[in-house]
Amino acid sequence: MSSQQKVAIITGASQGIGEALVQAYRGRGYQVVATSRSIKQSSDGDVIAVAGDIASPETAERVVREAVERFGRIDTLVNNAGVFLAKPFVDFTQEDFDHNFGVNVSGFFHITQRVARQMLTQGSGHIVSITTSLVNQPIAGVPAALASLTKGGLNAVTKELAIEFAQGGVRVNAVSPGIIKTPMHGPETHEFLSALHPVGHMGEIGDIVDAVIYLEGANFVTGEILHVDGGQNAGRW
Ligand SMILES: NC(=O)c1ccc[n+]([C@@H]2O[C@H](COP(=O)([O-])OP(=O)(O)OC[C@H]3O[C@@H](n4cnc5c(N)ncnc54)[C@H](OP(=O)(O)O)[C@@H]3O)[C@@H](O)[C@H]2O)c1
Repeated sequence: MSSQQKVAIITGASQGIGEALVQAYRGRGYQVVATSRSIKQSSDGDVIAVAGDIASPETAERVVREAVERFGRIDTLVNNAGVFLAKPFVDFTQEDFDHNFGVNVSGFFHITQRVARQMLTQGSGHIVSITTSLVNQPIAGVPAALASLTKGGLNAVTKELAIEFAQGGVRVNAVSPGIIKTPMHGPETHEFLSALHPVGHMGEIGDIVDAVIYLEGANFVTGEILHVDGGQNAGRW
């Protein structure tokens, strides 16, 4: 392995935004560790697949160990694995709560902590998380309190870690999507979901990939929550 080749970890990499991010980072010459519960080994020797539940510290441990042992360093972590559940607040169950906090919050914490130790030792790195603009602009008819609690926490900790790691050479950012055409949303919902954006349509997976790649090269940008949401964050419409 060339010591110059960069290494990215992508969570939630089996489909949707995460799968596209694996291709985007490979296209830029990165070696990639891709993780999700159902991820399959790739025929590409520069992609390692590590299967596991991101809520578990044991998965985080294996992903980071594989990255360092096989590729020697970690330059980027994309915290993309996430779940979303729209439901009236009073109807959420304990299981809903545990699942949303498990994937969105524990899933962030365990791997980010381990990756950050490696990056701070290296003196460089970039951590970017995928959140949601519903945190800033709740929408009537789309009750999503668990998304606000969990992804709102990720927005907050993005700024906190940007400050905590600024002198350590590690940048920390987030991309805040509107509603994106991924397997998360069946085609029958697209018309309704399009109307939830000022621009009148949903976003594409490539819109989020472009934002992550922008942040990757933006060396003076840290602590940024980059809204890629067709104007949702701007106000009412
Ligand atoms: N699509 C949207 O409209 C939208 C809007 C705002 C924010 N986002 C955020 O963007 C991110 C990606 O969304 P997406 O639409 O691409 O999602 P998606 O198509 O539903 O894919 C989710 C990914 O996360 C993985 N995942 C789910 N639970 C997991 C677990 N317990 N452990 C490990 N991996 C797990 C899934 O893989 P396995 O099933 O193999 O585990 C899959 O690869 C998420 O954080 C989501 O909240 C999406």
